[in-house]
Amino acid sequence: MKLSLFILFVGCVAHINAGVYTQRFLDQYNKIHAASNGYFSPQGVPYHSVETLNVEAPDHGHETTSEAFSYYIWLEAMYGAVSGDFSSFVTAWDITEKYIIPTTADQPTNSFYNPSSPATFAPELDHPSEYPSAIDSGVPVGQDPLYQELVQAYGTAEIYGMHWLLDVDNVYGFGNSPGNCEAGPSDPGPSYINTFQRGSEESVWRTIPQTTCDTFKYGGTNGFLDLFVQDNSYAEQWKYTNAPDADARAIQAAFWASQWATASGQISQIQSTLDRAAKMGDYLRYSLFDKYFKKIGNCVGASSCEGGSSKNSAHYLLGWFYAWGGARDTTNGWAWRLGDSAAHFGYQNPLTAYALANEPTLKPKGSSAVQDWTTSLARQLEFYEYLQSDEGAFAGGATNSWNGRYDTPDNNLTTNTFYGMFYDWEPVYHDPPSNRWYGMQPWSVDRLAQYYYVTGDSTAQALLDKWVTWILSVATINSDSYQLPGNLAWTGTPGDLHVSIATYSDDVGTGAATARTLAYYAARSNNQEAKTAAKNILDVMWNNFQTDKGVSASEEREDYSRFNEPVYVPSGWTGTYPNGDVIDSSATFISIRSFYLSDPDYPQIESYLNGGAVPTFTYHRFWSQADVAIAQGAYGLLFNE
Ligand SMILES: *[C@@H]1O[C@H](CO)[C@@H](O)[C@H](O)[C@H]1NC(C)=O
Repeated sequence: MKLSLFILFVGCVAHINAGVYTQRFLDQYNKIHAASNGYFSPQGVPYHSVETLNVEAPDHGHETTSEAFSYYIWLEAMYGAVSGDFSSFVTAWDITEKYIIPTTADQPTNSFYNPSSPATFAPELDHPSEYPSAIDSGVPVGQDPLYQELVQAYGTAEIYGMHWLLDVDNVYGFGNSPGNCEAGPSDPGPSYINTFQRGSEESVWRTIPQTTCDTFKYGGTNGFLDLFVQDNSYAEQWKYTNAPDADARAIQAAFWASQWATASGQISQIQSTLDRAAKMGDYLRYSLFDKYFKKIGNCVGASSCEGGSSKNSAHYLLGWFYAWGGARDTTNGWAWRLGDSAAHFGYQNPLTAYALANEPTLKPKGSSAVQDWTTSLARQLEFYEYLQSDEGAFAGGATNSWNGRYDTPDNNLTTNTFYGMFYDWEPVYHDPPSNRWYGMQPWSVDRLAQYYYVTGDSTAQALLDKWVTWILSVATINSDSYQLPGNLAWTGTPGDLHVSIATYSDDVGTGAATARTLAYYAARSNNQEAKTAAKNILDVMWNNFQTDKGVSASEEREDYSRFNEPVYVPSGWTGTYPNGDVIDSSATFISIRSFYLSDPDYPQIESYLNGGAVPTFTYHRFWSQADVAIAQGAYGLLFNE
C-alpha cells in the first residue's frame, strides 16, 4: 500500500504545474494572500471572514476560529504539493502555535490538576434563563487516564491544543493576547475570548462574550463567572475550549503534507512540524472521553451513573469539545479538564485517526495513543454505519449524557443505542439544529472519502457508494449551474432514518467540499459520474462566482433580524465590558456589542430592523475560500488536470 501510494504521488509531482485545476488553486491562493484583500491580520492570523459584520458561530467577522487555522494549514500543505515549497506550511503551523495554542503563561496551573478528580459536575440546563446552574460535588466523576502518560511523553502538564475562538482585532478589548491576561483595549490582540457557555438552546444571538482569563477586572463583581455557574466562592481563573474537528483537520493537513513532502524528497524539512501535529493528536484524545469521564453506555442518572476508570469512559468518537482550565493563583492552584459526552457525525475524521495510528511521520508519543486512535478509527466507521439514513445521508449523532445532565432519554431511543449511547438527531445545539445544515455532510464525508482513497477500505467504500448515489440523485449538477441541498430535514431513529431536502443552495463552500468528496471517491473507485459531477461543480463556481477577493455567491441573511434579541442576564446582575457597554437584565445582542454601530455594513442592518429589505452579503469566509482553492487543487492533483 505504502509503495503504490508513493508512486502515485511521484506521478503527480512530475506533472504538477501543468494543470488547469492546479493553476486555479494558485490563482485562488494568490487572492487569499494578496494583502489588499484583507484575509490576514498584521500578525498573519487568518480572520473568520474578510467582512467584519458577520454573525454565525463567531459573532464578529474579525474574530477567528481554530477552524480557520486548520484551513490555513491545509491550504499551505497543498501549496507545498503544487509549488514544491513547504516553508509556508511550516510557517502556518508556527503562527497557529503562537496565537491559538495557549502558552505556559496562559495555562499556568496545570500541575495542580488531579487526574483522579478531573472536574466537578454542573448540569446543562434547558434554557439560558435557567442559568446560572449550580455545581454539584456529590455527583460521581471518573478518572482521567491520559494525564500521566502525556506528562511522561512530553515532560509538561500543559495541553497542546487549540482554543476555538480569538478576537483578532481585540474588538471587545479584553486584551488576552498570548502571555497577557485582561491587558485591556490597548492590547493589539489577537485576544483569547469565549462566547457559548449555556448549553444546547443558546444561540449565538443570546451569548454573553466573555474573557478566557478572568481577574474580575471586567464584567461584574465576580467577573463573568457567576453568569454561568453558581459556586460557593469565586477565584480568578483561566479556561479554554477546544473544537476537535479543527484540530483533527490540522492533523489531516499535516498527513497530506507528509505524503506530498515524502514524494518530493522534502520530508526532513517538515518533520519537526509533523512532530507537533502528532503531539496535537495525542492531546486530541481528550475529546474521545465522556464529559465527566463517566462510564460509557446507559449512563442514566447523574448520581447513579458511575465514574469510569482506565478507558471505559472513552466513546472513541471525536466529541464536540474538550475543555480545560484552572486557577490564576500559582501557589495554591487547582485545575480541571472535561471531555465531551456528545458526538456529531459531522466532526468525525477517519483519515486523522488512521494517520495517527499508522503514519510513521505522525506517531504520537503517548504510550497508548496508537492503540486509542486504532480503536477510534474502527469506532468512527461503525458510527457512520449506525447513522446512515435509508437514502444515504448521515443523521446527527449520539450522546452518553442525555440533555447534558445524564437524564432519562425518550423511550424510542433506548433500543438500538450506539454502545449504550443514545441517538440524537441534533446533537449539542438546537438553534439552529446542528444537523440541519447540509455542509456537515460533505465536511465529514470528504474525510471518509480521503480515508477511502488512501486505504481502499471496503467499509468506507460501501458507506460512500450509498452517500454518493444520494447526493447525485438529489442535487442538480450541470456544466452551467448546480443546486445542492442547503438545509436538511430528518425523521426516524437508527435503522429507520430518513432525510429530505428542506432548501437548496449554490453556496461555494459546501460546493467545494462536495466536489472534493466526489473527486477523492472517483479517483479510487473510477466512478465517472462522480468525477464529472465534481468537475462540473468546480467549473461552475469558477466561471460564475468570481469576485475580486475570491469565489463567493451572495446570500440573504434573514437571521440578522435578531440583532435586537434580548440576552438573558439574571435580574440584579450588572457588569461592564472594557469599552463601557453595560451588561444587565435589559441587554440585547446589539447593546453589548456597540462596536457594530460603527461598522460600515451596519446601515443595512438598521434599515432591515426598521422594516427594510433583508440584507444581502457576499462573504469571503476564510474556510470557504480556502476550501475552494483546496478543492480545485485536489482535483488537479488527483487527475493530473
Ligand atoms: C421520540 O419520541 C419523542 C416523544 O414522543 C418525540 O418527541 C421524538 O421526536 C421522537 N424521536 C425521534 C428521533 O423520532
